[in-house]
Amino acid sequence: MLTDEPLLFDAPLSHSEIVQFLKEDDLAALAKLYTTADDVRFLCVGDDIHVRALINFSNHCRRNCLYCGLRQGNAELTRFRMNENEIISAAIKAYKKGYRTVVLQSGEDELYTEKVICRIIIGIKQSCDIAITLSLGERPYKTLKAWFNEGADRYLLKHETSDPELYEQLHPDLRFDHRIDMLRNLKEIGYQTGSGIMVGIPGQTYESVANDILLFKELDIDMIGCGPYIYNPKTPLQAATPDENLYIQPKPEYVYKVVALSRIVTRDTHIPATTALSALNPELGILSALSAGANVIMINETPEQYRRLYEIYPKDETPADILSPENPFETIEQLTGRHVARDYGHRHL
Ligand code: 5AD
Ligand code: SF4
Repeated sequence: MLTDEPLLFDAPLSHSEIVQFLKEDDLAALAKLYTTADDVRFLCVGDDIHVRALINFSNHCRRNCLYCGLRQGNAELTRFRMNENEIISAAIKAYKKGYRTVVLQSGEDELYTEKVICRIIIGIKQSCDIAITLSLGERPYKTLKAWFNEGADRYLLKHETSDPELYEQLHPDLRFDHRIDMLRNLKEIGYQTGSGIMVGIPGQTYESVANDILLFKELDIDMIGCGPYIYNPKTPLQAATPDENLYIQPKPEYVYKVVALSRIVTRDTHIPATTALSALNPELGILSALSAGANVIMINETPEQYRRLYEIYPKDETPADILSPENPFETIEQLTGRHVARDYGHRHL
């Protein structure tokens, strides 16, 4: 149980304190945790909400992560690729709608070579003044550097779990140490670097989630995306119960706790209210996270004909249920009472 003392503005939270909060289920104590995270958010990054246009441009992937619908082994998925012009046009369209960041995301699809992505970055930067975030999986150092030199601003690469054994069970073709080295390399190259985890993935413990949060701090991660794990029956990761219809999803509350604790521990980072949250709680998922420390929203601006094919888990991942897709900025401002930033929205250090 928590006391009435004002919470944790000075002393860093210890591992055992984080675990204690993750296990907390007293509603008054949780309300206090979220208010504290909201205060830290206001003090450290202000009241602006940053909105990002997400373009999922290919659902091909050479990896076989056990939990993900895009895994190469999933033969039930119709695959698609957008060509260079389609990607550049989608980014320009997002710019015209008012976005000042575009997130280019795909499975690990090597058909988009270093050169192809360079051309896309140049094409977008020549046409509009917009920040580019890449989320293209593990690539060689030289390639990451080339993309940065062409003008890419940010890179997302979630570490998913800080438990090396669990990491390697879930990712048969990836190595935990390599993932962490890549995050360090991205920082060194100069990218604003994003990581994140899936909250509630089978095999995870409260202790490992506390380590995840401390790792964000240790690596000086700039952007932290924490969403719930959502069971996908087309993947080999077992449901928590033998009957997949009875699969128990992580509670949205658990994700809000991770968001709030990540904010309190890392203070001035960018933390999205992840789209997966609206799959768990369509009405309130995004808004609750924004009141518990989050300050970023990613909106799916993938062209309509491809959108439903980016099926990481079986749900439409657009938070369109609450955000009018025609007018996301005004809708967010009305719903939250907070201002939507019209600039790049870089992390200010
Ligand atoms: N549930 C929630 N998130 C998932 N991701 C992949 N599969 C799932 C799932 N079943 C997320 C991972 C990965 C990104 C591609 O999508 O965090 O980084
Ligand atoms: Fe591919 Fe990423 Fe899905 Fe793994 S999580 S299968 S790398 S898209």
